[in-house]
Amino acid sequence: TDRYAVFGQPIAHSQSPHIHATFGRQEGLALDYRAIEASPGEFLAALEAFAAEGGVGANITAPHKEAAFALCTTLTSRARRAGAVNTLLRKGDRWHGDTTDGIGLVRDLTDRHGLDLRGRRTLLIGAGGSARSVAPALLDAGILELVVVNRTPERADALIDAMGEPGRAITRYWEDIRELGDFELIINATSAGRDRAAEFKLPLSLVNSMTTAVDLNYGEAAIAFTAWARSAGCRNIVDGLGMLVEQAAESFLQWHAVRPQTEAVYTELRTQLA
Ligand code: ATR
Repeated sequence: TDRYAVFGQPIAHSQSPHIHATFGRQEGLALDYRAIEASPGEFLAALEAFAAEGGVGANITAPHKEAAFALCTTLTSRARRAGAVNTLLRKGDRWHGDTTDGIGLVRDLTDRHGLDLRGRRTLLIGAGGSARSVAPALLDAGILELVVVNRTPERADALIDAMGEPGRAITRYWEDIRELGDFELIINATSAGRDRAAEFKLPLSLVNSMTTAVDLNYGEAAIAFTAWARSAGCRNIVDGLGMLVEQAAESFLQWHAVRPQTEAVYTELRTQLA
């Protein structure tokens, strides 16, 4: 059996092993897919050990998506634009990198939630690996404008530089958030909500009658931002569970050349979260 794994920190509660096992059963494939915990300092060695033991594919989650990008010998064009990788495929003794987060998010928002992204003014909060992964796909989906704010402004600038669309994708300072106007799409791509004490204090001026608020996190990590979105009266509030399942399906397609059905495992995970 070929070996697969997801690398991250923390990783114990990752649903990826369960999702891929479910896809594998649906498609009649026996998979060995496990979760491997690695700190930033351990990541490269852990990945090498995995490859030495027959690892042929890996998912990469926080905080390693940019490190994974840097170690790839070849990359898909969407991964190159994102500067982040969530899917590795072994080719000989090298890694080929892809990012499926962005297409996963867009598919969840358009197909599952029936949202039309075209023409939406979009605020992206955060500029880490998750933000980088979704930004190109949002631009490709036809959003009107992408405004990125991040606690560390240099990281937001780097993200925007990588997009190469200075007319449509711009950065603003966090301190100026009250002056940004309103948005039809607001995406939390920070990991701030993973801290239990987290609270989102965003101005109501960001919200209009159309606003969809999306947290790329799910479960407890999504509570703080979605609570703000509810109190702000956002029209739609979406967490990252659908994106999680859709990015997994797209990774599965890259590895096994078959696109699995996602609805059954999505419904199962949604029921567990409730
Ligand atoms: P991921 O892969 O989930 O994006 P990451 O690359 O570590 O993980 O990025 C985390 C993101 O959350 C960054 O945008 C980070 O902001 P900085 O670039 O300033 O570090 C953001 N973040 C984390 N904790 C935060 C907090 N308490 N407040 C605001 N932003 C936070």
